[in-house]
Amino acid sequence: MTIDTKDVSGADVALKAKHRAMWALGDYPAVAADLISELGTTLVAACAVRNGERVLDIAAGSGNAAIPAALTGASVVACDLTPELFEAGRAQAAQRGADLEWVQGDAEALPFTDGEFDTVLSCVGIMFAPHHQASADELLRVCRPGGTIGLLSWTPEGFVGQMFSAMKPYAPPPAPGAQAPLLWGSEDHVRTLLGDQVTDLTARRGTVTVDRFRSAEEWRDYWKANYGPTIAVYRSLSDDPERAASLDRDLVELAGLHDHGAGTTVMDWEYLLLTARKRD
Ligand SMILES: C[S@@+](CC[C@H](N)C(=O)[O-])C[C@H]1O[C@@H](n2cnc3c(N)ncnc32)[C@H](O)[C@@H]1O
Repeated sequence: MTIDTKDVSGADVALKAKHRAMWALGDYPAVAADLISELGTTLVAACAVRNGERVLDIAAGSGNAAIPAALTGASVVACDLTPELFEAGRAQAAQRGADLEWVQGDAEALPFTDGEFDTVLSCVGIMFAPHHQASADELLRVCRPGGTIGLLSWTPEGFVGQMFSAMKPYAPPPAPGAQAPLLWGSEDHVRTLLGDQVTDLTARRGTVTVDRFRSAEEWRDYWKANYGPTIAVYRSLSDDPERAASLDRDLVELAGLHDHGAGTTVMDWEYLLLTARKRD
């Protein structure tokens, strides 16, 4: 069988345009700032980013990791498919006194030269590019030999992983060939992707505590107003209010299962934090 590469790339362009539109929905910069800002600093610390280094944040969004990286004095590029998120990122960077570059780019075809960066990292970002080996190959390509790789990804077993599983029966089927983002939260999968191109691989699980909601319903309403992938699923149900109501209930039930607060909702969202060195 021959594959018509023109068609494949046309489908890919359409898929990436769809992903860009999805991440521009709602207010992702608010989600990052309100709920998971500590993940960026955790990843930057795990990579020991320092003054004078050249750092790439892949799928940087509004700079959750890129901004703390720049605050160390490193020279940082924040790269993302969705430049709509850069405006909020630039405003946050200015407010925090960080100086960095913002570049639109696809994790599967990075607009950078081989070995350009001392550290290449991604905070719950690269996991959402659909072709995992392509994006892993790209992150390895742009990292210099001996450089640092740092990846923080939601685990399938944790709250965000379970939230994606809860939405799956309500969502349109994934594009042909697109892999599940949560595989990046599995150490074995990432070890296979990085293969023998890395050494000194370490992996640990951690959690970020989310405690700003008074109830599971309040979390769900915030999430369905602000988080692009969830907004997109609800939009696909716009002609089916019963299914939308059922998803409403499923999300509240899930948040209830993870809630260990007393009187207010407290959830620990699990991630996998992996670091490695690009082989010399
Ligand atoms: C959950 S957000 C994470 C953003 C940021 N790293 C953070 O910690 O807040 C996922 C990001 O992945 C980006 N993204 C999705 N697919 C991508 C791709 N193929 N290439 C580059 N970025 C992509 C989205 O635009 C979005 O900004």
